Amino acid sequence: MASKRIKLGVLGSGRGSNFIAIQNSILNNAIDAEIAVVISNKKSKMLEKASEYGLESVYVNPKDSDNKESYDLKLVQILKEHDIDIVILAGYMKILTNGFIEAFPGRIMNIHPSLLPSFRGLHPQQQALDSGVKFSGCTVHLVIPELDAGPILSQHVVPVLAGDDEDALSARILVEEHKLYSGTIQSFIKNKL
Ligand code: GRF
Repeated sequence: MASKRIKLGVLGSGRGSNFIAIQNSILNNAIDAEIAVVISNKKSKMLEKASEYGLESVYVNPKDSDNKESYDLKLVQILKEHDIDIVILAGYMKILTNGFIEAFPGRIMNIHPSLLPSFRGLHPQQQALDSGVKFSGCTVHLVIPELDAGPILSQHVVPVLAGDDEDALSARILVEEHKLYSGTIQSFIKNKL
């Protein structure tokens, strides 16, 4: 009997390059899953792209909710309606409430453009430059209530080069993010982590 195909729900706020890389991996059979819904808190590029792929895409306007908790419960409801197994954060710029995190225990992944636990939070590439490290990179981790502090699933090291500014380092890390995230999702699905 064929096993049920794993369903991913993607949350993002911006250009969606990690989402695109993941969807392309799915189309190339490098991830045994499907994206069942793409959700954004902004009318983002990512949502446009999701529609182009023919994926279900949902804009949830934060102004239509009284507070963060009720906003997140709306998202949980949409994800549950789509029978989501794993939530993939891909440039989602809002901090999830405990109510959301408890709805998908151990099943929310994020990618962060630094070698965690170094440089949590915003502008990690600039934080790396300011600190003078010679190597940074990216980390895929599970999401817990503490920001960027959940169990690490995978990392990739990227050199910091003389003359790098935030854009240059971000671009070098981003290339690796795209590969790392897809590979990690596939390994997670196959219980290889
Ligand atoms: C990526 O650098 C990711 O690591 C961070 O936000 C950025 C999102 O980029 N969390 P994109 O929307 O996937 O292009």
